[in-house]
Amino acid sequence: MTTPSAAPVTAVILVAAGSGQRLGYGMPKAKVPLGGDSILIHALRGVAAAGVARQICVALPPGDRELAAQCEAFAEELRNGGGNGAETPEITAVDGGASRADSVRAALAALHPDTRSVLVHDAARALAPEAVFHRVAEALAAGAQAVIPVLPVVDTVKTVARTTGPDADIAPELVTGTAPREALRAVQTPQGFSLETLRRAHESAEGLDEAQAAAVTDDAMLVELLGVPVHAVRGASQSLKITTPLDLILAEGLLEGPLGARWVEG
Ligand code: C5P
Repeated sequence: MTTPSAAPVTAVILVAAGSGQRLGYGMPKAKVPLGGDSILIHALRGVAAAGVARQICVALPPGDRELAAQCEAFAEELRNGGGNGAETPEITAVDGGASRADSVRAALAALHPDTRSVLVHDAARALAPEAVFHRVAEALAAGAQAVIPVLPVVDTVKTVARTTGPDADIAPELVTGTAPREALRAVQTPQGFSLETLRRAHESAEGLDEAQAAAVTDDAMLVELLGVPVHAVRGASQSLKITTPLDLILAEGLLEGPLGARWVEG
Protein backbone atom coordinates (compact mmCIF):
# COMPACT_ATOMS: atom_id res chain seq x y z
CA MET A 1 0.00 0.00 0.00
CA THR A 2 1.34 3.43 -0.88
CA THR A 3 0.55 6.29 1.44
CA PRO A 4 0.94 9.95 0.59
CA SER A 5 4.21 11.52 1.74
CA ALA A 6 4.29 14.84 3.63
CA ALA A 7 0.50 14.95 3.36
CA PRO A 8 -1.18 18.16 4.54
CA VAL A 9 -3.83 17.76 7.26
CA THR A 10 -6.63 16.29 5.21
CA ALA A 11 -10.36 15.98 5.74
CA VAL A 12 -12.78 13.96 3.65
CA ILE A 13 -16.23 15.43 3.03
CA LEU A 14 -18.64 12.57 2.36
CA VAL A 15 -21.81 13.88 0.72
CA ALA A 16 -24.70 11.57 1.55
CA ALA A 17 -27.71 13.90 1.66
CA GLY A 18 -29.23 12.96 -1.71
CA SER A 19 -32.79 11.69 -2.02
CA GLY A 20 -31.93 8.66 -4.15
CA GLN A 21 -35.11 9.05 -6.19
CA ARG A 22 -33.58 7.39 -9.27
CA LEU A 23 -32.84 4.27 -7.22
CA GLY A 24 -36.55 3.92 -6.47
CA TYR A 25 -36.23 2.60 -2.89
CA GLY A 26 -38.40 5.29 -1.33
CA MET A 27 -35.67 6.21 1.13
CA PRO A 28 -32.49 8.33 1.04
CA LYS A 29 -29.86 6.55 -1.03
CA ALA A 30 -27.37 6.43 1.85
CA LYS A 31 -29.77 4.13 3.74
CA VAL A 32 -30.30 1.64 0.93
CA PRO A 33 -29.00 -1.82 1.87
CA LEU A 34 -25.96 -3.16 0.04
CA GLY A 35 -24.49 -6.52 1.00
CA GLY A 36 -25.99 -6.42 4.50
CA ASP A 37 -24.95 -2.85 5.36
CA SER A 38 -26.14 0.55 4.17
CA ILE A 39 -24.50 2.39 1.27
CA LEU A 40 -23.37 4.98 3.87
CA ILE A 41 -21.53 2.38 5.97
CA HIS A 42 -19.75 0.97 2.91
CA ALA A 43 -18.70 4.48 1.91
CA LEU A 44 -17.46 5.30 5.43
CA ARG A 45 -15.48 2.03 5.56
CA GLY A 46 -13.80 2.85 2.26
CA VAL A 47 -12.81 6.34 3.37
CA ALA A 48 -11.50 5.13 6.73
CA ALA A 49 -9.59 2.22 5.15
CA ALA A 50 -7.81 4.60 2.76
CA GLY A 51 -6.20 6.21 5.83
CA VAL A 52 -5.88 9.69 4.30
CA ALA A 53 -8.35 11.58 6.53
CA ARG A 54 -7.88 13.19 9.94
CA GLN A 55 -11.61 14.03 9.90
CA ILE A 56 -14.51 12.58 7.92
CA CYS A 57 -17.34 15.09 7.71
CA VAL A 58 -20.57 13.50 6.50
CA ALA A 59 -23.45 15.55 5.05
CA LEU A 60 -26.70 13.71 5.85
CA PRO A 61 -30.34 14.33 4.88
CA PRO A 62 -31.41 17.06 7.35
CA GLY A 63 -32.78 15.63 10.60
CA ASP A 64 -32.19 11.98 9.65
CA ARG A 65 -31.63 10.38 13.06
CA GLU A 66 -31.17 6.88 11.69
CA LEU A 67 -28.22 7.85 9.46
CA ALA A 68 -26.77 10.02 12.24
CA ALA A 69 -26.92 6.95 14.50
CA GLN A 70 -25.13 4.88 11.84
CA CYS A 71 -22.34 7.50 11.79
CA GLU A 72 -22.09 7.38 15.58
CA ALA A 73 -21.97 3.57 15.57
CA PHE A 74 -19.25 3.62 12.90
CA ALA A 75 -17.20 6.14 14.89
CA GLU A 76 -17.49 3.83 17.89
CA GLU A 77 -16.39 0.86 15.77
CA LEU A 78 -13.29 2.82 14.69
CA ARG A 79 -12.47 3.86 18.25
CA ASN A 80 -12.68 0.20 19.27
CA GLY A 81 -10.01 -0.73 16.75
CA GLY A 82 -12.13 -1.45 13.70
CA GLY A 83 -9.76 0.63 11.54
CA ASN A 84 -6.83 -0.76 9.55
CA GLY A 85 -4.15 0.53 11.89
CA ALA A 86 -4.08 4.00 10.34
CA GLU A 87 -4.78 7.01 12.54
CA THR A 88 -8.43 6.90 13.60
CA PRO A 89 -10.31 9.72 11.89
CA GLU A 90 -12.88 11.79 13.73
CA ILE A 91 -16.40 11.47 12.31
CA THR A 92 -18.53 14.62 12.15
CA ALA A 93 -22.12 14.64 10.85
CA VAL A 94 -23.83 17.76 9.50
CA ASP A 95 -27.20 18.44 7.88
CA GLY A 96 -26.84 18.55 4.10
CA GLY A 97 -28.58 21.06 1.87
CA ALA A 98 -31.01 21.22 -1.03
CA SER A 99 -28.29 20.77 -3.66
CA ARG A 100 -25.03 18.79 -3.61
CA ALA A 101 -23.08 22.05 -3.51
CA ASP A 102 -25.12 23.17 -0.46
CA SER A 103 -24.21 19.90 1.24
CA VAL A 104 -20.51 20.45 0.52
CA ARG A 105 -20.75 24.00 1.89
CA ALA A 106 -22.42 22.75 5.09
CA ALA A 107 -19.58 20.27 5.60
CA LEU A 108 -16.90 22.88 4.81
CA ALA A 109 -18.24 24.99 7.67
CA ALA A 110 -17.66 22.08 10.10
CA LEU A 111 -14.01 21.30 9.27
CA HIS A 112 -11.27 21.65 11.85
CA PRO A 113 -9.31 24.89 11.62
CA ASP A 114 -6.03 23.07 10.99
CA THR A 115 -7.37 21.39 7.82
CA ARG A 116 -5.27 22.19 4.76
CA SER A 117 -6.68 19.91 2.08
CA VAL A 118 -10.04 18.27 1.44
CA LEU A 119 -11.26 15.29 -0.52
CA VAL A 120 -14.93 15.49 -1.49
CA HIS A 121 -16.47 12.08 -2.04
CA ASP A 122 -19.95 10.92 -3.08
CA ALA A 123 -21.33 8.34 -0.65
CA ALA A 124 -23.00 6.92 -3.75
CA ARG A 125 -19.51 5.79 -4.89
CA ALA A 126 -19.47 3.47 -1.91
CA LEU A 127 -16.95 0.97 -3.32
CA ALA A 128 -14.24 3.41 -4.43
CA PRO A 129 -10.93 1.61 -3.79
CA GLU A 130 -8.19 2.86 -1.47
CA ALA A 131 -5.77 3.24 -4.40
CA VAL A 132 -7.88 6.06 -5.85
CA PHE A 133 -7.88 7.98 -2.54
CA HIS A 134 -4.10 7.57 -2.47
CA ARG A 135 -3.61 8.79 -6.06
CA VAL A 136 -5.66 11.91 -5.31
CA ALA A 137 -3.94 12.57 -1.96
CA GLU A 138 -0.50 12.09 -3.55
CA ALA A 139 -1.24 14.64 -6.28
CA LEU A 140 -2.29 17.14 -3.58
CA ALA A 141 0.87 16.43 -1.57
CA ALA A 142 2.87 17.01 -4.78
CA GLY A 143 1.42 20.53 -5.07
CA ALA A 144 -1.87 20.28 -6.98
CA GLN A 145 -4.60 22.73 -5.94
CA ALA A 146 -7.24 20.51 -7.47
CA VAL A 147 -7.24 16.87 -8.61
CA ILE A 148 -9.94 14.55 -9.89
CA PRO A 149 -10.03 10.81 -10.67
CA VAL A 150 -11.12 10.06 -14.24
CA LEU A 151 -11.67 7.18 -16.64
CA PRO A 152 -11.57 7.14 -20.43
CA VAL A 153 -15.01 7.24 -22.04
CA VAL A 154 -15.96 4.05 -23.86
CA ASP A 155 -19.14 5.29 -25.53
CA THR A 156 -19.23 7.76 -28.38
CA VAL A 157 -20.72 10.95 -26.91
CA LYS A 158 -22.94 13.31 -28.92
CA THR A 159 -24.66 16.59 -28.15
CA VAL A 160 -28.37 16.84 -28.93
CA ALA A 161 -31.17 19.41 -28.94
CA ARG A 162 -34.92 18.90 -28.61
CA THR A 163 -36.47 18.46 -32.02
CA THR A 164 -38.87 21.18 -33.12
CA GLY A 165 -41.08 21.58 -36.19
CA PRO A 166 -41.99 18.67 -38.48
CA ASP A 167 -38.92 16.60 -37.36
CA ALA A 168 -40.56 16.28 -33.90
CA ASP A 169 -42.85 13.59 -35.35
CA ILE A 170 -39.79 11.47 -36.21
CA ALA A 171 -37.79 11.53 -32.95
CA PRO A 172 -37.64 13.72 -29.82
CA GLU A 173 -34.02 14.84 -30.27
CA LEU A 174 -31.71 15.82 -33.10
CA VAL A 175 -27.90 15.36 -32.98
CA THR A 176 -25.96 18.63 -33.03
CA GLY A 177 -22.41 17.28 -32.82
CA THR A 178 -19.99 14.53 -31.80
CA ALA A 179 -17.42 15.15 -29.07
CA PRO A 180 -13.87 13.82 -29.79
CA ARG A 181 -13.82 10.73 -27.58
CA GLU A 182 -10.06 10.54 -27.02
CA ALA A 183 -10.18 13.90 -25.21
CA LEU A 184 -13.18 12.99 -23.02
CA ARG A 185 -13.01 11.62 -19.48
CA ALA A 186 -15.72 10.37 -17.14
CA VAL A 187 -15.23 12.07 -13.80
CA GLN A 188 -15.48 10.38 -10.40
CA THR A 189 -14.84 11.18 -6.75
CA PRO A 190 -12.98 11.58 -4.39
CA GLN A 191 -11.98 14.98 -5.78
CA GLY A 192 -9.13 16.65 -3.91
CA PHE A 193 -8.51 20.35 -3.28
CA SER A 194 -6.51 22.67 -1.16
CA LEU A 195 -9.02 23.92 1.40
CA GLU A 196 -8.47 27.51 0.34
CA THR A 197 -9.28 26.68 -3.31
CA LEU A 198 -12.42 24.71 -2.48
CA ARG A 199 -13.69 27.43 -0.12
CA ARG A 200 -13.12 30.11 -2.78
CA ALA A 201 -14.86 27.97 -5.42
CA HIS A 202 -17.94 27.49 -3.24
CA GLU A 203 -18.07 31.12 -2.17
CA SER A 204 -18.17 32.10 -5.84
CA ALA A 205 -21.18 29.78 -6.33
CA GLU A 206 -23.23 31.04 -3.40
CA GLY A 207 -25.27 33.47 -5.51
CA LEU A 208 -26.44 30.87 -8.05
CA ASP A 209 -30.19 30.42 -8.58
CA GLU A 210 -31.86 27.02 -8.09
CA ALA A 211 -31.44 25.86 -11.71
CA GLN A 212 -27.79 26.94 -11.83
CA ALA A 213 -27.11 25.25 -8.47
CA ALA A 214 -28.66 21.99 -9.74
CA ALA A 215 -26.30 22.13 -12.73
CA VAL A 216 -23.25 22.07 -10.42
CA THR A 217 -22.65 18.32 -10.49
CA ASP A 218 -19.12 18.33 -9.09
CA ASP A 219 -16.73 20.59 -7.22
CA ALA A 220 -14.05 20.70 -9.92
CA MET A 221 -16.50 22.58 -12.17
CA LEU A 222 -16.48 25.48 -9.73
CA VAL A 223 -12.69 25.40 -9.43
CA GLU A 224 -12.33 25.44 -13.23
CA LEU A 225 -14.42 28.65 -13.28
CA LEU A 226 -11.82 30.26 -10.99
CA GLY A 227 -9.13 29.47 -13.59
CA VAL A 228 -7.28 27.12 -11.20
CA PRO A 229 -5.68 24.11 -13.00
CA VAL A 230 -7.44 20.82 -12.27
CA HIS A 231 -5.21 17.75 -12.52
CA ALA A 232 -6.57 14.32 -13.47
CA VAL A 233 -5.40 10.97 -12.09
CA ARG A 234 -6.66 7.48 -12.92
CA GLY A 235 -9.98 6.52 -11.36
CA ALA A 236 -11.40 2.98 -11.11
CA SER A 237 -14.43 1.28 -12.60
CA GLN A 238 -15.43 -0.11 -9.20
CA SER A 239 -15.94 3.52 -8.09
CA LEU A 240 -19.24 3.40 -9.98
CA LYS A 241 -21.85 5.85 -8.73
CA ILE A 242 -24.82 3.86 -7.45
CA THR A 243 -27.67 5.74 -9.10
CA THR A 244 -30.04 3.27 -10.79
CA PRO A 245 -31.27 -0.23 -9.81
CA LEU A 246 -28.77 -1.69 -12.31
CA ASP A 247 -25.88 0.03 -10.49
CA LEU A 248 -27.04 -1.57 -7.25
CA ILE A 249 -26.97 -5.00 -8.89
CA LEU A 250 -23.41 -4.31 -10.10
CA ALA A 251 -22.34 -3.15 -6.64
CA GLU A 252 -23.87 -6.27 -5.04
CA GLY A 253 -22.02 -8.36 -7.62
CA LEU A 254 -18.71 -6.67 -6.74
CA LEU A 255 -19.27 -7.38 -3.05
CA GLU A 256 -20.27 -11.00 -3.53
CA GLY A 257 -17.98 -11.86 -6.40
CA PRO A 258 -14.79 -13.88 -6.19
CA LEU A 259 -12.68 -10.73 -6.37
CA GLY A 260 -14.01 -9.31 -3.10
CA ALA A 261 -15.38 -5.93 -2.13
CA ARG A 262 -12.53 -3.66 -3.04
CA TRP A 263 -10.60 -5.37 -5.79
CA VAL A 264 -8.24 -2.88 -7.34
CA GLU A 265 -7.44 -2.47 -11.00
CA GLY A 266 -3.75 -2.26 -11.83
O1 C5P B 1 -27.59 13.45 -7.12
P1 C5P B 1 -26.25 12.84 -7.35
O2 C5P B 1 -26.35 11.36 -7.65
O3 C5P B 1 -25.38 13.56 -8.32
O4 C5P B 1 -25.52 12.92 -5.94
C1 C5P B 1 -24.17 12.66 -5.78
C2 C5P B 1 -23.83 12.65 -4.31
O5 C5P B 1 -24.19 13.90 -3.73
C3 C5P B 1 -24.60 11.56 -3.55
O6 C5P B 1 -23.70 10.87 -2.68
C4 C5P B 1 -25.65 12.35 -2.79
O7 C5P B 1 -25.99 11.78 -1.53
C5 C5P B 1 -24.98 13.70 -2.58
N1 C5P B 1 -25.96 14.80 -2.45
C6 C5P B 1 -25.98 15.53 -1.27
N2 C5P B 1 -26.90 16.55 -1.11
C7 C5P B 1 -27.81 16.82 -2.08
C8 C5P B 1 -27.79 16.06 -3.30
C9 C5P B 1 -26.85 15.07 -3.45
O8 C5P B 1 -25.18 15.28 -0.36
N3 C5P B 1 -28.71 17.78 -1.87
